[in-house]
Amino acid sequence: MEFIDLRSDTVTQPTDAMRRAMAEAAVGDDVFGEDPTVNELEDLASALLGKEAGLYVPSGTMANLVAVMTHTQKGDEVLLEAESHTYLNEVGAISAVAGVFPRTIAGTLGYIAPAQLRSAVRAPNVHYPPSRLLCLENTHNRAGGIPFGPEEMDAICHAAHELGLAVHLDGARIFNAAVAFGVPAKALVRQSDSVMFCVSKGLSAPVGSVLTGRAEFIVRARRFRKMVGGGMRQAGVIAAAGVVALRTMIDRLAEDHAHARRLAEGFAGISSLSVNLPHVRTNMVLLEVSPRLGGAAEFTDRMRREGVLALPSGPHTVRLVTHRHVTTQAVDRAIDAVSRAATQAVAG
Ligand SMILES: Cc1ncc(COP(=O)(O)O)c(C=O)c1O
Repeated sequence: MEFIDLRSDTVTQPTDAMRRAMAEAAVGDDVFGEDPTVNELEDLASALLGKEAGLYVPSGTMANLVAVMTHTQKGDEVLLEAESHTYLNEVGAISAVAGVFPRTIAGTLGYIAPAQLRSAVRAPNVHYPPSRLLCLENTHNRAGGIPFGPEEMDAICHAAHELGLAVHLDGARIFNAAVAFGVPAKALVRQSDSVMFCVSKGLSAPVGSVLTGRAEFIVRARRFRKMVGGGMRQAGVIAAAGVVALRTMIDRLAEDHAHARRLAEGFAGISSLSVNLPHVRTNMVLLEVSPRLGGAAEFTDRMRREGVLALPSGPHTVRLVTHRHVTTQAVDRAIDAVSRAATQAVAG
């Protein structure tokens, strides 16, 4: 059976143009700063985000860790949204490796309101770790790919700066947010001290993320990347695909967003399932499964038997993610398959 894979946009394969660019990439030793293709990707990334410099790293997880290490010292307090990827899904690296103290704030659909931040940050006191950094996420993965616009981003960054905090943005899918708002990505991150994004998700490159920020910040981040084993040698071979991704793959994300909406509208007609349509803003759909159909894990098994792959993201929530390999026809087949899975669950 050929599956329609809606587990994540990380399953995307490199395009033919990426494979050609990888084969032909000019390379050098990037630990010596001599890989022209890595340098090109870092320059392109920092220009797109309006930052002074960039650093290519193997993964989003490493980008966030390196950012936290560069912004903080051991024992500092880092504020994060309670459902953020860095807090929940990065193996506790910021504590285990960076040695910081994470403090969470439960946002609304992933957004921390400035007033919430103001009341969470405590005045300096001998009993408290110094509050140093705020980590944000745009789009917010666990909230279902919710994007935050320029005003929301500026407001929370401004509040953080007033409180003396630096701001790091996990922008793994920042270009999805930019496309959703119809603005250049730099408009979303202008107040953020550092930003990372992934070329390995909807942009379809096979490997890597780029951390961007001020030149002096990136010089220090480069040492931390080396410290955690992320110094790569002829990395231009993989960075070449990232260059193609940034030059050619951003605008097409709109197609993934349209497909997510089509999927969600299709699910809306199926009894025992529900989707909050206004929350479908980028390439993710959170499908709520009635307890009558069993739990989300059981329902994703039923979906798999009908040819659709997805992941549970809560006891009764299934997450579906659209990407370049999901065509309009596949979306329509997925709706039919999910409908069959729901009917069978009710019957059986
Ligand atoms: C919001 C967010 N941040 C960070 C990451 C980590 O990226 P990576 O899998 O490259 O480590 C992910 C991965 O899915 C993510 O969704």
